[in-house]
Amino acid sequence: MTSISNKAAWVDEPQQPCVKYMPFPKRPYRLVLLGAPGVGKGTQADLLCQELLTCHLSTGEVFRAIKDSDREKTAAQNEALAYIKRGELVPDEIVIDMVRERSDCFVCEYGFILDGFPRTLPQAEALGTMLGEVDVALDAVITYELPKEVIVDRLSGRRMCSNCRTNFHVEYKPPLQDGVCDRCGSPLVQREDDRPESVVVRLEEYQESTEPLIQYYRKAGLLMQISAMGDPQSVFQKTMGMLERLPSVVGS
Ligand code: AP5
Repeated sequence: MTSISNKAAWVDEPQQPCVKYMPFPKRPYRLVLLGAPGVGKGTQADLLCQELLTCHLSTGEVFRAIKDSDREKTAAQNEALAYIKRGELVPDEIVIDMVRERSDCFVCEYGFILDGFPRTLPQAEALGTMLGEVDVALDAVITYELPKEVIVDRLSGRRMCSNCRTNFHVEYKPPLQDGVCDRCGSPLVQREDDRPESVVVRLEEYQESTEPLIQYYRKAGLLMQISAMGDPQSVFQKTMGMLERLPSVVGS
């Protein structure tokens, strides 16, 4: 069984409709993943999407795709690109517009997993407004936690396919052939922002802008804190264990 591919739809072609596969999920999960850079959000999102048949919506992946390819871009993506090219952070309003362009995903009967959005308090408030407009509620906000030295180890060993963007790790998820993507055979590269000097800045940014969201979602009664120690499968099992304890019908 294949998972649905809204991630590819959003990342590769802005207006492409998502591809839906059967079987239909028992219930839609509407989730947000929080956690420092490199904690393993993308890895868990892939595993969760396969299991829950949800879409994986990653703003970071969209930013990398619009920067690295000549694909057609939406109005908000073009605005974001101007900032990315100058090496500046993309302002909240533009990120919010970019997500709003894909807001049909919020009412998808397969649910969604937001990874990398919201990243700031204004983004979280805007997400609440967008969901309120379509009468949808989040089921949970999962925050993954890991000591800083493990994060640095995960980021420094990460390699990404230059073509299909599949993630590997030189030690924990090595490709079958050194430096070559298992999925499409293209060369693996290190993400620019995984170089040590960028990692320090990203961790500081996370602490300043995104950590306040933990308290925000705790107050809203949505927070699930999960240790990201252990291999991806064991973190996934822990996550599923917590999700299965959610009330069976939440949101609309
Ligand atoms: P984004 O792509 O969202 O980056 P991030 O949040 O920094 O997260 P990462 O992708 O670096 O890490 P991850 O937690 O997904 O870890 P992964 O699973 O790959 O964003 C990039 C940039 O875009 C941001 O810095 C920001 O500038 C901008 N941006 C994005 N969204 C934005 C927004 N909303 N507003 C403004 N700006 C925004 O795992 C890491 C490595 O560890 C991999 O090699 C993996 O194989 C390995 N690994 C994973 N799990 C395990 C495990 N359990 N055991 C061992 N190894 C593991």
